[in-house]
Formats: sequence, structure tokens, C-alpha cells
Amino acid sequence: MSRYFIIFITIVIILNQSFNATNLKPKDIRNYLGTRTPYRFKNNKNDTKIKFPSCKDVKIWMIIRHGTRLPSAKDIVGMNTTLNNLKYEILLKNKQGKGPLKKDHLKLFEKWKSDISVDEEKYLTLEGQDEMIQLAERMQKRFPNAIKHKYNNKHFKFKYTATQRAQQSARYFTLGLFDKNNSQNVIYEPALKVDTTLRFYKHCDKWQKQVKKNPNTYKEQILYGNSHEMNMTLLSVSKKFGLDRVLSLDTVVLIYKICGYETSWHKYFSSPWCLGFDDFSIKTLEYYHDLKHYWLDGYGHDLTYHQACMILKNMFEIMSKDSPTATFLFAHSGTLLKLLTHLHLYKPDSHLRGDIKDEQRVWRASDIDCFASNLAFVLFKCNDEEKLLTLHQERIIKLPMCNEELCSFEHLKDYFKNSIHNCDHSDMCKLD
Ligand SMILES: *[C@@H]1O[C@H](CO)[C@@H](O)[C@H](O)[C@H]1NC(C)=O
Ligand SMILES: *[C@@H]1O[C@H](CO)[C@@H](O)[C@H](O)[C@H]1NC(C)=O
Ligand SMILES: *[C@@H]1O[C@H](CO)[C@@H](O)[C@H](O)[C@H]1NC(C)=O
Ligand SMILES: *[C@@H]1O[C@H](CO)[C@@H](O)[C@H](O)[C@H]1NC(C)=O
Repeated sequence: MSRYFIIFITIVIILNQSFNATNLKPKDIRNYLGTRTPYRFKNNKNDTKIKFPSCKDVKIWMIIRHGTRLPSAKDIVGMNTTLNNLKYEILLKNKQGKGPLKKDHLKLFEKWKSDISVDEEKYLTLEGQDEMIQLAERMQKRFPNAIKHKYNNKHFKFKYTATQRAQQSARYFTLGLFDKNNSQNVIYEPALKVDTTLRFYKHCDKWQKQVKKNPNTYKEQILYGNSHEMNMTLLSVSKKFGLDRVLSLDTVVLIYKICGYETSWHKYFSSPWCLGFDDFSIKTLEYYHDLKHYWLDGYGHDLTYHQACMILKNMFEIMSKDSPTATFLFAHSGTLLKLLTHLHLYKPDSHLRGDIKDEQRVWRASDIDCFASNLAFVLFKCNDEEKLLTLHQERIIKLPMCNEELCSFEHLKDYFKNSIHNCDHSDMCKLD
């Protein structure tokens, strides 16, 4: 008895020490990683069947951002060049005994390397595979009638964009739904090079010109990038690494991104790049990126969310047809954010601005745009009435235009009649 107790205490002490030694506050960091937040920090582990009296789940339509991925080619090169050089600079400065980094921190840096090939840019990672398998398992447990265990190509529809990460996400998702034999027989809809449903914005010339390539879109982000808060942050990150120069914004942004990626990829490993941040500086970087997504993918410009009628229309069409009973679409952050905006969700009281940080904002990529982010609509038959249930990140939400979570399907069809009947991609997107 006492022996076990001593062992137990020893373990506690060791755990405590390693925690203190790295001085990482994973709880602080993990809430502010923005679009690189892994889904395991956000998912809903309660997978109890979702029931309503006298109702039956008959259909599901779900759109899912691909799971955790590798960085872009540019950031992979940045890891191998900028960060690799910085690693040696940090080791050098701290070895002279002046740096603030402790032995354990320096070991993390010594061991750190970047061996990702640029050919694998944006590929789905092992963590991304796990995210998809487990998401599928939980959704099936919640809605066993709409999501059957046995695969039948009449009941299921799977579609992904023409990218490795979305395609692999779909594949691992089906592995979570069916047994091996079944999942090998799954038929996927052909991936389209020009997909005006799953990636409507990519080929919307008007949006590309007026929003994406319009410098005005990035005005608030740039303003915040030059703010006193950001300058303090650059100084703070440089100090934490023991440097006697001030890192550039570009470099600190890269450090923030790689801190996020490495936290996502490894469940039990701390990225040395996260050591540069404290509570204040990580929130600064989070807000800097939220400003970009807000103005690019959110409420900043009408056309940004108008065009998301393309994907919402798809949901209404599929729900109103006979089959399939389960539709799973695999797409991107840009698709999900614009759809959330079209649905009037996570709207701040006023536009996000670069001259003042909105601490209370509900528009927060760390929550609404993490890897494997997802939005599901489930059609319930309740006696003779059809109702629609909405889930975001696997949690039931109430749409702003509904009185209840389980909302009348007729009401929604009426509310969104313009999105359904007045949504023509070429009309909307042609340049005048
Ligand atoms: C889990 O989800 C079910 C169905 O939504 C709910 O009834 C139950 O209260 C939840 N359990 C917990 C512990 O939150
Ligand atoms: C990293 O850079 C080194 C030297 O610049 C190069 O030899 C190596 O191939 C690069 N590695 C990768 C994975 O790109
Ligand atoms: C899977 O399919 C193979 C070949 O059709 C069959 O021999 C095997 O029994 C199947 N396994 C299961 C678990 O259904
Ligand atoms: C932040 O630093 C930049 C570059 O050093 C400078 O141009 C800018 O005026 C500073 N901003 C503030 C608010 O101090």
C-alpha cells in the first residue's frame, strides 16, 4: 500500500517537474492557436444518441473542413531556412549563459528539425486521420438511423474537393463509419477541378477581384500589425528566446504558425516554438489572424457570404429529395466560414478593427475554424412535421432565425428562399 503511494507521489513529482521545467502553459497556448487548432481540443466527446420525443433522425447533411495538415510550401521552406537558422542563434545566445531558456528548453531546440518535403505541402497528417475516424464514429452513434452501419451507395453520398487533404479526410471518415470491407467499396463523387459548390469562392471572379485581391480587405490586419500591442509582442517573443535583436513580424507569424502545427501534430510533445509566447503575445497573434479571416471570409463584405448560398442551396436540395440519407462533404476553412456567416452565426456587435482588440468577440478562429471544423444539419421527422437540427463542432446550436434548436424545416426554407431560388454562381460572380 505505502509502496504504491510512494510510487504515485514520485510520478506526481516527476510530472510536476517536467511541467515546470518546460514552463509551457499548454492550457494557455492551446486556446489561441487559430485555424491551426487541432480538433481534439474542441470536439464533443458526448456521443450519446440524440433523441427528441416522437421524432426520428431521417437524414443528415454535413460539411467538414479537412483534418490537421502539413504547412504550405512557403512555410515548409520557412521552417527549413528561417526557423532552422533561428534555432542555432537561440542555442548560441542561451549557451553564453545570458539567455532565459533553461536546459530542457534548449534540449527541445537541439532536437528540433524540419524534414518535411515541399512535395507534401498541405497533406493530411496522422492526427488528421484520427480526427476523421473519430468524428465519424461519434456522429454515427448520435444519429444511427440517418447514418447506417452498412454501406450502400444509395444511402450515402461522399464528396471532396480536388485536394489530397480533403480526399484523404473523406477516406478516413468512411473508415470510421464502416468496417474495412465496406469502406473499400465506397463510391465517392468525382472531385471537380472547378467546384462551384464546395469551393464556390475560388472561381468567383468578382469576389477574387473585389475582396481577395483587394488591399482594402487586409487594412485592419495591417493596422494591427503596426500597433503598439504588436510591437510589444515582437519584443516579448525575441526576449523569451534570449535574442538581442527584435524579430520581424513575418518571423513571429511563422513561429506562431509552426507552434500551432506542431501542437496539432503531436499529442505528447511540446513545440519549442511555443516557448516564445505568453498569454499576452499569443492573444495578439490570434487576433491578428482573426482580423484577416473576418474581413476575408466573414462579415466584412456582402459578396463573401452571399456566394455561400451555393453550398446552403445544396443542403436544402438534398434534404428535400428522396435519397441519400447521409451526405458528407469535405472542404476547406474558406467554405465553412462563409457558410457560418451566411447563417448569421458568430457575428460580432460591430466589425473587428485593427486599432482596438475585441477581447469578447465570438468570431474566433480558434473556436470556429479549427482543423476538422464541421457543420451538420439533421432532418427529423416528428409525427408529420419535418424539423431541422443544427450542430456546429458536434454541439447542438440554435440558428438565429429559429426559436428553438429543433427548427421547422418549412420555416427555414421560407427564410432562405432567396438563397435557394435566387443563387446563380455566374450571375453573382461575373465582373461588371
Ligand atoms: C450527452 O448528450 C445527451 C444527448 O444530447 C444528453 O441528454 C446528456 O445529458 C449528455 N450528457 C452529458 C454528461 O452532458
Ligand atoms: C533544407 O535545406 C537544406 C539546405 O538548404 C537542404 O539541403 C535540404 O534539402 C532542405 N530540406 C528539405 C526537406 O527541404
Ligand atoms: C471481407 O471480404 C472478403 C472477400 O470478399 C471476405 O472473405 C471476408 O470474409 C469479409 N470480411 C468481413 C468481416 O466481412
Ligand atoms: C511599431 O513598430 C514599427 C516598426 O518599428 C513602427 O513603424 C510603428 O510606428 C510602431 N508602432 C507603434 C504604435 O509604436
